Amino acid sequence: MARWRSSLLIFAVVLAASACAQAPRPTPPRSPMAAASRADASFRFAAYGDTRDQHDIHRDIVAKVMGSHPALVLQTGDLVHDGDDESQWQTFDEITGKMRQEIPYYPARGNHDVSAQGFYEQRVTQPVLSGNKLYYSFEKGNVHFIALDTEDKDKLAPKSAQREWLEADLAKAQSEGKFIIPFFHKAIFSIGPHAVDKNVVALRPILHPLFQKHGVRLAFLGHDHLYYRTVRDGITYVITGGGGAPLYDPVHRELAIAGDVFKKTHHFCIADVYPDRVTVTVYRPDLSKLDQFTVPVGGK
Ligand SMILES: [Fe+2]
Repeated sequence: MARWRSSLLIFAVVLAASACAQAPRPTPPRSPMAAASRADASFRFAAYGDTRDQHDIHRDIVAKVMGSHPALVLQTGDLVHDGDDESQWQTFDEITGKMRQEIPYYPARGNHDVSAQGFYEQRVTQPVLSGNKLYYSFEKGNVHFIALDTEDKDKLAPKSAQREWLEADLAKAQSEGKFIIPFFHKAIFSIGPHAVDKNVVALRPILHPLFQKHGVRLAFLGHDHLYYRTVRDGITYVITGGGGAPLYDPVHRELAIAGDVFKKTHHFCIADVYPDRVTVTVYRPDLSKLDQFTVPVGGK
């Protein structure tokens, strides 16, 4: 009887071991950001904006941005809610510090970032080609990035310092055959609550014709807390205002045109730059895909 019991025990152990060996191994979670082929990508960059208030969402987006391993990060403004409140900048540093240490981080100043105490300027730390800490340009590969300051006291009026600098910078980049990507806070085309603000609308007849003249094909904007993509006269404008600020409804849908894409959701953009195109994929924080589009480099 004892021998019979012993055989039964051995049989059970062997059966259990065999079952373990055949059990499917747990597979690591698959990141949609890693699924895209990047073999011929020149480089990748991230863009997002309006981080402001909801720190957990901002923190989550920063983790997802870092997980996508971009060569650089653009922030389209409103890093914090109250630019005069130093404690908010400390929270911002706590959330973004590691990313900003590891990945070049380029912000554009938003209306909420303005402070006489220079807290925003202290966080513009990357070397730039030209300009200053409020408006500047830099290059990576064949791309010429331009950060604009839409809080400029002269409002980019003719002969203002930023306007003169911008016109010269655009002309130089165009003459060198660069793919020019401006990024700035106040969205000159929008369907959100700020779409009809006087100080936003006034920038459109200044910036849009300049971008047309100098062959701009893609720009990243903020200020309205939603996602919006529109193509105006061959220029793709992307509002990426979903980095953590309270979300806005697209209340001015009457301003949308055919082909527009918009969504009230937190999100971030990942752009892969290839020799002949830029492909932008937009993700919600849970990594579900919100949008994807391609802009040809140099073509019409
Ligand atoms: Fe704003």
